[in-house]
Amino acid sequence: MSVREPAPSLVSVAAATAVATGALAWALGRRHRPRLAAGAAREREMLAAFAEQSADAIIVSNLDGVINSWNRGAERIYGYRADEMVGRRFSKVLPPDRFDTMNQALADLAAGRQVHIDETSRIRSDGTELLVSVTVSPIRDESGTVVAAAATERDITEKKQREERSARAARLESLGQLAGGVAHDFNNLIAVILNYADFLSGETTPAGSADLARIRDAAGRARDLTSQLLLFAKREPIQVETVDLNELVTCAAELLSRGLGGSVRLVCHTHPEPLPVRANRGRLDQILLNLAVNARDAMPDGGVVLVETDRAPDGEARLTVSDTGTGMTAEVRDRLFEPFFTTKSADRGTGLGLATVYGIVGDAGGTITVDSTLGIGTTFRIVLPAAETPGGGVGVAEVGAGSG
Ligand SMILES: Nc1ncnc2c1ncn2[C@@H]1O[C@H](COP(=O)(O)OP(=O)(O)OP(=O)(O)O)[C@@H](O)[C@H]1O
Ligand SMILES: [Mg+2]
Repeated sequence: MSVREPAPSLVSVAAATAVATGALAWALGRRHRPRLAAGAAREREMLAAFAEQSADAIIVSNLDGVINSWNRGAERIYGYRADEMVGRRFSKVLPPDRFDTMNQALADLAAGRQVHIDETSRIRSDGTELLVSVTVSPIRDESGTVVAAAATERDITEKKQREERSARAARLESLGQLAGGVAHDFNNLIAVILNYADFLSGETTPAGSADLARIRDAAGRARDLTSQLLLFAKREPIQVETVDLNELVTCAAELLSRGLGGSVRLVCHTHPEPLPVRANRGRLDQILLNLAVNARDAMPDGGVVLVETDRAPDGEARLTVSDTGTGMTAEVRDRLFEPFFTTKSADRGTGLGLATVYGIVGDAGGTITVDSTLGIGTTFRIVLPAAETPGGGVGVAEVGAGSG
């Protein structure tokens, strides 16, 4: 929070003036209200209309935090009508941990200082949290005494979410570059190790062969890991074909339900029309498998995995995998797609499953999003561009770009 001597911005001045025009009737009392000239009255009406129509919330309160004026922007942002808020305390829309900040702000305003907060949280009428940027200006009566506070609040929730999404994407992009470079070099080294192990196998004693088999086994596992990393880094050349998402789900269903175990039920709902996408079938299978295994792991006491296909509103093909599992914390959700991020023990997870999924989806020109509620479950949504050729089935194979 920053506190300034009054040098208010244009908007906050206009807003404060406008709300003040309405609020001053209360603040000054009718007795003291000066007779307004016709021009001034018109200006006052315009400002009042401006304040009322503003997309931002414009809220006037007295210095005890009791609300006197609540414009349409505030109604829209908060979901409370003016008649529900006027006369109530502003703390009604504050998270309890912000009460101290409000009291401090009211004290600053009473001392004639403007208050600006870049980002702070509020509570909507439905109980959800929103983020706002706030400027509160003191309003004075004719004698210069501060009698009220006028706040302009801008809803920055979506902007903040967009910023977080693009920061996350940038972080994954740079991780991808790093992982891709390392994995590429490791892959070459592993190929050399495997080659020489093969050369040696004809020349050694039986005991030596057993050792060599272990070397080959370990190198083979290392190769699997690096190729998964290369998938995340989108550095593998791939065969692309036209795949119908419905068919993909139907074919995978049996295999998946066997892999999920007895207490986890798999339910598939496919779209009535074909949903062709251009992708590599094996990789799409890998997506389904990874999401299904994660869902199973999140439901130790059993539950339902729902796999659905449908069309996204703008015509793209959508694959949704939901579970009724543990859900995840915001911290886990934030790091989910990072390679080697896992909450599982070392023998149960490498943390490459979702990194791989992320790479495959990105490679196919799609997006993946996740919604999760602790104790309720998790939903992954994958949206892929619809293929040009309708009708599903497998089209002509082609090799996608890859920098190997
Ligand atoms: N459906 C889900 N429900 C709850 N948490 C999940 C779910 N899917 C993923 N997670 C969380 O995300 C983390 C990363 O998942 P990811 O698939 O990348 O790795 P992993 O499952 O831990 O290991 P791996 O897939 O490599 O065996 C998991 O450890 C888990 O904490
Ligand atoms: Mg996994």
